[in-house]
Formats: sequence, structure tokens, C-alpha cells
Amino acid sequence: MEKRDELYAGKAKSVYTTDDADRLIMLFRDDTSAFDGKKKEALARKGAVNNQFNAAIMEKLKAAGIPCHFEKMLSANESLVKKLDMIPVECVVRNVSAGSICRRLGVEEGLELNPPTFEFFLKNDDLGDPMVNDYHIRSFGWATDDQVAQMKALTFQVNDVLKQLFLDGGMLLVDYKLEFGVFNGEVLLGDEFSPDGCRLWDKETREKLDKDRFRQGLGGVVEAYEEVGRRLGIAFNYE
Ligand code: ADP
Ligand code: TMP
Ligand code: ASP
Repeated sequence: MEKRDELYAGKAKSVYTTDDADRLIMLFRDDTSAFDGKKKEALARKGAVNNQFNAAIMEKLKAAGIPCHFEKMLSANESLVKKLDMIPVECVVRNVSAGSICRRLGVEEGLELNPPTFEFFLKNDDLGDPMVNDYHIRSFGWATDDQVAQMKALTFQVNDVLKQLFLDGGMLLVDYKLEFGVFNGEVLLGDEFSPDGCRLWDKETREKLDKDRFRQGLGGVVEAYEEVGRRLGIAFNYE
């Protein structure tokens, strides 16, 4: 697989075209960003950790029958994926209250949400990723009714697989964000699943093991991601 031109440089990953028009290479950089790009820092090893973490999770999801763009890891910080037409919304499921839902609804952090909640956010840093609903998505043509239904169903299926996986490692999957795209007419899970885009707490102590360590200046960000990986049995390779 030959890496060609940089198609897009996002806040944490760069995406490259390849000699196959239907495949892209995702390069996970050490760059870390929060608050829609307002807080930024490069954290050593993070690109490699997230690439390998994402690969392990995507393999689990594929094995559970969830259609994913992930094909294979190419190096410590690069993976090969199917090229998707991305749907410009983010799908968030919450099992426990934290982050923006606490600010928006005035609820305390740490409440168990039963059933888990689902929210869509528009992927637009300039607007601060505003929350949108199914009607906005349909009216503005970001996705069809059928695609909306599939994104919701797949996001909840991911919850069933990953809640248990993390629980087995002594962690609570508090919430997470997924992005989907279309490949040959089919909705596939795209982007990544890593501690950058979810909240994970130690089940007993409720210690934060995710990007909230960066958002809140708690330190030990990559070390916490490595601890999560260790608990899931992922052996990281830094080349
Ligand atoms: P952001 O754009 O939010 O700053 P990243 O730095 O993670 O995010 O950049 C990765 C970009 O690649 C995102 O815009 C994401 O939507 C896009 N992307 C992820 N997976 C695919 C895919 N399979 N095909 C095309 N684009 C993708
Ligand atoms: P929030 O509490 O900020 O709304 O985020 C909920 C979860 O989704 C949290 O794990 C972070 C993740 N998320 C992202 O990674 N990127 C985003 O742009 C958004 C809106 C959420
Ligand atoms: N991922 C979103 C952003 O980059 C939300 C966050 O991490 O705070 O702003």
C-alpha cells in the first residue's frame, strides 16, 4: 500500500490517500486537542497508543458484527481504512453523567443514566459542535432517515460490546463519541475509538483514565491511556 498525498490534517490525525482510491491511511499524531481546538499540546507516545488502542477496539467491534472502516495497522502510528463519505455528525451515548450534559442540564457528575442517553452533535469546531436532533439532520440533508436509524442502532450496539469489555478490565465506560460514514451505500463506523473520544473511570475509585485528564490539567494523560490498554491486554509498541 503506497502512501500518497495528505488529504486532510485534523486536530489529532492526518489522513492520506493511497494507490487504492477506496483506501486511506490514518496517521495518529501526538497532538492532543480539547475544547474544539482551543487547548492544544503534543504528548509523547499518544499517537502510537491511540492507533494501537483503536486497532484493538475496532477488531473487537468487527468480531461482534459491527461494520467498521478499519482494515489493518500499518505501523506503530498508522492504520489503513476504507475511504468513507463522512456523515458530519457525532453520535454520543452516555451511561453516566459527565461533561457537557452536566453543564447543559445542571445535573451532578456521576449519575447512572438508565437507559443510556443518545445525542447528536454537529461536527463544526467554529460553532463549538452544537447539539442537533434527527429533524436537523434530515432537513439539512446530512443523512437520510435510514442512516440516522442505523447510526443510533450501531452506536448502542457498540455500547453493549464495550461496556462489558471495559467492565472486565475494572472500568466504567461513562460516555463516548462515534463518527460514521458511507461506503458503497453502507453505513460504517469510521474515525477512531480511543480514550481521546470517550470517558473511562476506574470502577472502584472513579479515577479518570481518559482525555478529561488533559481537559482538566490532571497530568499523566498518556500514562492513563496506557493503563487502560494494559488492563485490556494491549501490548503497545513504540518502534
Ligand atoms: P478532527 O477533524 O475532528 O480535527 P481528526 O484529527 O481525528 O479530527 O481527523 C480525522 C478526520 O478524518 C476527521 O475529520 C474524520 O471525520 C475523518 N475520517 C475518519 N475516518 C475516515 C474515513 N474512513 N474516511 C474519510 N474520512 C475519515
Ligand atoms: P461532552 O460531554 O463534551 O458532550 O462529550 C461526550 C463524550 O463524547 C466525551 O467522551 C467526549 C466525546 N466527544 C468527543 O470526543 N468529541 C466531540 O466533539 C464531542 C462533542 C464529544
Ligand atoms: N473532541 C472535542 C474537541 O476537540 C471535544 C473535546 O475533546 O473537548 O474539542
